[in-house]
Amino acid sequence: MDMTEFDLTGRVALVTGGGTGIGRATALLLAERGADVAVAGRRAEPLEKTAGDIAALGRRGLAVPCDVRKPEAVRAMVAEVVARLGRLDILVNNAGGAHGHIGLARMDLAKWDRDIQLNLSAAQYCAQAALPHLRRSKGNVVNVSSLAGMHGTQGVGAYSAAKAGLQMLTRVMAAEWGPIGVRVNCVAPGMTATEAAELGWEKRGYDAKAVAKKAFPLGRYGEMREVAQAIAFFACDAASYITGESLAVGGGPNIGGMIDVEEDEPLAAL
Ligand SMILES: NC(=O)c1ccc[n+]([C@@H]2O[C@H](COP(=O)([O-])OP(=O)(O)OC[C@H]3O[C@@H](n4cnc5c(N)ncnc54)[C@H](OP(=O)(O)O)[C@@H]3O)[C@@H](O)[C@H]2O)c1
Repeated sequence: MDMTEFDLTGRVALVTGGGTGIGRATALLLAERGADVAVAGRRAEPLEKTAGDIAALGRRGLAVPCDVRKPEAVRAMVAEVVARLGRLDILVNNAGGAHGHIGLARMDLAKWDRDIQLNLSAAQYCAQAALPHLRRSKGNVVNVSSLAGMHGTQGVGAYSAAKAGLQMLTRVMAAEWGPIGVRVNCVAPGMTATEAAELGWEKRGYDAKAVAKKAFPLGRYGEMREVAQAIAFFACDAASYITGESLAVGGGPNIGGMIDVEEDEPLAAL
């Protein structure tokens, strides 16, 4: 089987939030496919661990501590990646998160600003800084949104609005940058079992397994690597004619409606 279009040998990727969770799983998968990978985040320790694991796969791994909410620091980060790894082909804007369980009526506006900055503005800061290099490599951007950005989630209003904005940013970037050969796509994960998510579930006594069984057609929450697979798809040449799209990786649509069992045989009987 010819898998050439999935191969990333010789490419350089930068994954923000690459020290943990979905970002780390993505960095490792891109490395498995042949890419050298830089990971960025605020804490050096998880970045160094991921960079070491990338090196163990036989690729160059680079840890670049950076707060992606700071445009100046972002420009320095991109410059360092290109100086150390020689080029940039793939930018994954994955760093994100929310101040959770705060209603909009009482949400502290500094927290509102932080959520918007981290989940929307940072993607623009990173992509704008990376663009000259992506233009040279005919590279691409993958933004990591959320199902919250498609359907909205109470308690994370700023995050939901920012993640919806990220999907629109994806479309506008794709339209503006397509003519110079740069693709921009977006992956919107649903409930995904990252370390951070699992800690939150445990802390609140939230039965994620039971919720996912009921809410999603596939009956379970997602694994980090399942999200990473979608990101890696957009990042590689197999997606060469796809740009401006947002793909949900969320176990299927949570929709209403009912089927009259008298007219439709139950699935279990088929
Ligand atoms: N897990 C889910 O169920 C789920 C669902 C939908 C969408 N998502 C999205 O998936 C992405 C990854 O989330 P995750 O679940 O894998 O959680 P996670 O492990 O907490 O990942 C978030 C990453 O972002 C980094 N980060 C946070 N603030 C940053 C900043 N100011 N500058 C640079 N890096 C920063 C964190 O590292 P530092 O703290 O060291 O900076 C961390 O590595 C996020 O965009 C999230 O919104 C997750």
